[in-house]
Amino acid sequence: MDVLSSPNDVRCLVRRRRASGHLIGVVPTMGALHEGHLSLIRAARAECDTVVTTIFVNPTQFGPDEDFERYPRTPEADLELCREAGTSIVFIPNVDDMYTPDAATTVTVSGITRVFEGASRPTHFDGVTTVVAKLFHITEPDRAYFGQKDYQQQLVIRKMASDLNWPVTIVTCPVVRDADGLALSSRNRYLTDSQRRQALVLNQALTTAAEQALAGHRPWQIENTLTETLKHADGIRPDYAAVVDPDTLQSVPDDCRRAVALAAVWVGSTRLIDNRLLTFPET
Ligand code: PAF
Repeated sequence: MDVLSSPNDVRCLVRRRRASGHLIGVVPTMGALHEGHLSLIRAARAECDTVVTTIFVNPTQFGPDEDFERYPRTPEADLELCREAGTSIVFIPNVDDMYTPDAATTVTVSGITRVFEGASRPTHFDGVTTVVAKLFHITEPDRAYFGQKDYQQQLVIRKMASDLNWPVTIVTCPVVRDADGLALSSRNRYLTDSQRRQALVLNQALTTAAEQALAGHRPWQIENTLTETLKHADGIRPDYAAVVDPDTLQSVPDDCRRAVALAAVWVGSTRLIDNRLLTFPET
């Protein structure tokens, strides 16, 4: 496994691999790797000849009052996990390797970035799309792997790749959960034991949403139940809860066949997100 911090070195190595016929997969991460990230690396390993895992806590996607400084950084453990999961090249740049002090270019996707995560974190998606665009330019992947846990993020990246004619296939991998149902997130380590127990309501409420959809409840009824459950749960402050179109994140008609339930909650000072795809029976 090669571990590199220079964008140019990574690009040269990837190009050599491609010249020898390799299909290139990239797994962008911010480190503090957990089973969710490892599932992405393993998916890339199964489909690609060279797997590039990027580890970079990207400052531009954190708002001024967010947790950039305290975001967990565990580079040694990350490298070991990358090796075990089958990474070929780790790209682990410093901030200076990625952004020059006079950097003046931002990649913005409009529309879909303005709602939900984008409404609560107004500068977040510009930071994500800018860094992912840079990572795509540096690693020139055939396939790029993202988790469904960040549902809106993977839609935004798909839109960016499609709008910019990027020759990369975006692969979305399922949410990985702990045995108690909590979606894995690097931010879960901020939770105390009792907050962790309180956070379980998020997955439970989304599971109810999926069951209600299968039982033929209307999207607005499901959204109401989800909102009320989260509003009245102990130790939880909901940010948003909604049932919307899985491709556009716009509202859905009563007779829709597919939707996604999205929710974000605060548990103490930790913000968690989760989602569930909903399937409705034919009426
Ligand atoms: O999902 C993440 O960890 C980050 O948003 C990403 C895609 C690596 C960009 O920094």
